[in-house]
Amino acid sequence: MPDKGSCTVIVGCQWGDEGKGKIVDVLAEQVDIVARYQGGANAGHTVHVGDDQFVLHQIPSGVLHAGRRCLLGNGVVLDVQQFFEEYDALLKRGIDIEGRVGVSYRAQLLMPYHRFLDKAVELAADTKIGTTGRGIGPAYEDKAGRRGVRVADLLSPNRLDKRINAAKDRVATRLEELGAGTEELNEAMERTLALSERLLAIATDVGPEISGALRSGRNVLLEGAQGTALDLDHGTYPFVTSSNTTAGSAATGSGIGPTQITDVIGIVKAYTTRVGEGPLPSSMAPQMDEHVRMLGGEFGATTGRPRRCGWFDSVLTRFASQVNGLTGIAVTKLDVLDTLDEVKIATAYKTADGRTREFFPADTWSLAEVEPVYETMPGWHSSTCDVRRIEDLPRNARAYLDRIEELTNAPVCFVSVGTKRSQIITVD
Ligand code: IMP
Repeated sequence: MPDKGSCTVIVGCQWGDEGKGKIVDVLAEQVDIVARYQGGANAGHTVHVGDDQFVLHQIPSGVLHAGRRCLLGNGVVLDVQQFFEEYDALLKRGIDIEGRVGVSYRAQLLMPYHRFLDKAVELAADTKIGTTGRGIGPAYEDKAGRRGVRVADLLSPNRLDKRINAAKDRVATRLEELGAGTEELNEAMERTLALSERLLAIATDVGPEISGALRSGRNVLLEGAQGTALDLDHGTYPFVTSSNTTAGSAATGSGIGPTQITDVIGIVKAYTTRVGEGPLPSSMAPQMDEHVRMLGGEFGATTGRPRRCGWFDSVLTRFASQVNGLTGIAVTKLDVLDTLDEVKIATAYKTADGRTREFFPADTWSLAEVEPVYETMPGWHSSTCDVRRIEDLPRNARAYLDRIEELTNAPVCFVSVGTKRSQIITVD
């Protein structure tokens, strides 16, 4: 029997930081459940409600809407300590989340030693990735290596002890090899394990819960973290995160079947940003880079690092459209470009041998050498912040969006023109 409810995936189509948090927050109004399907505390989803700003790292962005059920699927790596800090901070700020948040029994636990390893490996590496230092890579390594600890392991203290003791020995040897200290690790482990009961109290079977909700006509949002170009398989490897960020993993990471997904909305910023190491082909010249960073407040929500800025790269977003099977796109931060004289869109890459390519290459190292082919369009020199209907946008801004839509091969369904909930244009 087909589901009666809708299941929409929200996926980043650049290098993360596309503004997914804001779009999830806006769409959460129309759904009953919001679930995260991958990543962990490396994400930083910023949501503005009235004059308040919330930065969510692990709890889904739908949490700011009363009554919405918020789930963390099996695909996430859960930093328990950070998770409850975030949980308690929300409670303190008056967000009633008791009974609304659930975590999959199948989710992997990100332990303090994963954080220690992440930092030590990065420090010692010849090729630095510029990770967030949140332990994401080592946690997914343990998952793939079948050494991980899952929420369900907390049900059996004996089994848990065994797995953790084995991990401790392994980690101590590895950290010693890397010349890293382990002070405070034991204490951090104790603090994490002390939260076991609290975590078990909210553990649930996420896949069956979502499937049951869909069958009974309730609507679901599956919230991705990071972006397509940071996907472990499809991104700019090795300068990627350690999970599949793309829409295919929304089913795997939440425990439902792919045929239950009804829509995939790709989030693209009206320009491009990247934080961490790795190529950014459409990067802006230094002065413009600095200017747009200031206009857009482009500093990492998790690490505070300045983001590199680039022009809209349609080679990447066209690839993202294909790999995610987009049914629509939401363009965010259009207002950031309001004062520019002209805006550029990269439509192809010129490679070192003089050829023009329209497809995002698998060879990351060649990507570092390409020269983008740009189309330059006139700016609109007028504020879009108060526009609420697409037909009321300045003509040049509409032309810019039309071109993005054409080059990305997906219809624009939302345009965000500011940080507030109300600053959104919904396109029929
Ligand atoms: P990790 O996910 O911490 O292992 O970092 C791997 C790469 O992904 C680094 O380049 C990070 O800067 C980047 N990254 C991870 N999470 C985010 C995010 O939420 N937004 C933007 N970049 C991210």
